[in-house]
Amino acid sequence: MTGSVSEKLQSLIEVDEPLLTALSNAAALLFHSLERINWCGFYLFDGEKLVLGPFGGKPACTVIEMRKGVCGTAAAERRIIRVADVSEFPGHIACDPASKSEIVFPLVLRDGTLFGVLDIDAPLKNHFSEKDERDLNDAVKLLVTKIDAILEKKPVRLV
Ligand code: SME
Repeated sequence: MTGSVSEKLQSLIEVDEPLLTALSNAAALLFHSLERINWCGFYLFDGEKLVLGPFGGKPACTVIEMRKGVCGTAAAERRIIRVADVSEFPGHIACDPASKSEIVFPLVLRDGTLFGVLDIDAPLKNHFSEKDERDLNDAVKLLVTKIDAILEKKPVRLV
């Protein structure tokens, strides 16, 4: 499913382009490369909470408090959370009622600071497999390396 997403990200994202440009294209690439998903995008950490960043899909919640929902939990605990059935996740935030399963990856920079999360939602329960998680995590690692390289060239705050 995602075998070539890392390769596509590798060639799509230039380290001398603006961070907003890179994240926007990464969200669009993932949204159109992954099968049967209804939302894919970034929530960016502003030092206190998560704020909506570039995404593909319907308009979404603009602010998520740390430790709230799947995104806030993944961010606060800095761990990948794969949810087979969102109705069973305590505190799940239903931005789009079509979302039935979800996977969230924390984005932690080289210096240990939290950059944000990547959230991917699917309209079917049990959509994301362990293999999807591994493949997507490879893409996320590559993406974080690109974000680090972009920020090294041009430090910027997006939120
Ligand atoms: N479901 C997420 C909120 C973000 S939207 O799905 C785009 C959560 O519980 O954190």
